[in-house]
Amino acid sequence: MTTAAIRALFRPEPGSIYLDTATYGLLPAPTVAAMQRALLRWQAGSADFIAEWERAGDESRALFARLIGVGEDEIALVPTVSVGVGPMVASLAPGDEVVVPDAEFTSVLFPLLVAAESRGVIVRQVPFAGVAGAITGRTRLAAFSLVQSQGGRTADLAGICQAARQHGARVLVDATHAIPFYPIADFLPAIDVLVCHGYKHLLCPRGAGFLYVRRDVQDALPPVHANWRSVATFDTGSYGGPLALAPDARRFDVSLDWLAWVGARQSLALLLEWRAAGALAAAHQLARDLAHQLGEPPPAASVVSCPVADAETVMTMLKRAGIRAGAPAGRIRLAPHVYNTAAEIGRVVSLLEPFVVGENRA
Ligand SMILES: Cc1ncc(COP(=O)(O)O)c(C=O)c1O
Repeated sequence: MTTAAIRALFRPEPGSIYLDTATYGLLPAPTVAAMQRALLRWQAGSADFIAEWERAGDESRALFARLIGVGEDEIALVPTVSVGVGPMVASLAPGDEVVVPDAEFTSVLFPLLVAAESRGVIVRQVPFAGVAGAITGRTRLAAFSLVQSQGGRTADLAGICQAARQHGARVLVDATHAIPFYPIADFLPAIDVLVCHGYKHLLCPRGAGFLYVRRDVQDALPPVHANWRSVATFDTGSYGGPLALAPDARRFDVSLDWLAWVGARQSLALLLEWRAAGALAAAHQLARDLAHQLGEPPPAASVVSCPVADAETVMTMLKRAGIRAGAPAGRIRLAPHVYNTAAEIGRVVSLLEPFVVGENRA
């Protein structure tokens, strides 16, 4: 599939340049069509919900497993990141120490702070760059975003995994802003749990999220969201005991938001095709070119940000020019994907350049 053919699958507002994938990714047209078809069948009452919609979840599981290079039996389907971190947080006992970056996204941080308030878990918040160095023999868990949503800074994953291994701590990664661009496969044997919401860089609908739980960790985490979907097979019925959960990561499944998974199956199939055709590498290269032109370090994934004196003024200027960007922490944040071109990157750089202040990231 050529880059032009891939771009033709998207419908950004005419005249606009969409560079805000870190807020939400654009849905490809086949994904929208699949969701529309499902919605009409829902409206008509003609759908077989298991064959058409529940299966979409299981097929999405298999596709995501292929995308990151693990077995399907290590992937659970979750609606949000905070739900995904739930089992690991529930495994923590009073006095257990967790190391977490101080500006961590709240869907990871707040469940830990609730565990601190309600159960005496000890949460040590440290600078983003200091996570590996803060892990000691007392640390039970390190939890962090691999790529920060504030601006694309990337954690020292190798250093954190090594420190965790040395001190016997577990590792929980929020990879929402890393996959599919960051080469995560090499690190997965050293990661206990990874969560990834699909509605940003995976171009899936919101509500389709993934939870990787390494095989040897699964029995140590309580499946706190157990429900009719987290079983080995639906055939056994949905009423009464005993507790009969799936033998693998499916026991962490949360019953599905059907439309989201119908869309996710389509988007993930396309992503795998595009990756094979080199289109994801090309999109990553666009992000690297963007960073280079803005004087920023090369991004490990696709999120790039630059400092400006007055983000509000710059965002107004970009909006007037039809450019969709973000500014979650006072920096202008841009995240290209397969729908962007080198010409679009050139255009945004020329508009931004006069406003960029010369400070480089710490
Ligand atoms: C780092 C990070 N993780 C996760 C999410 C999504 O969280 P949730 O699934 O709770 O909506 C976001 C959304 O901005 C994010 O920036």
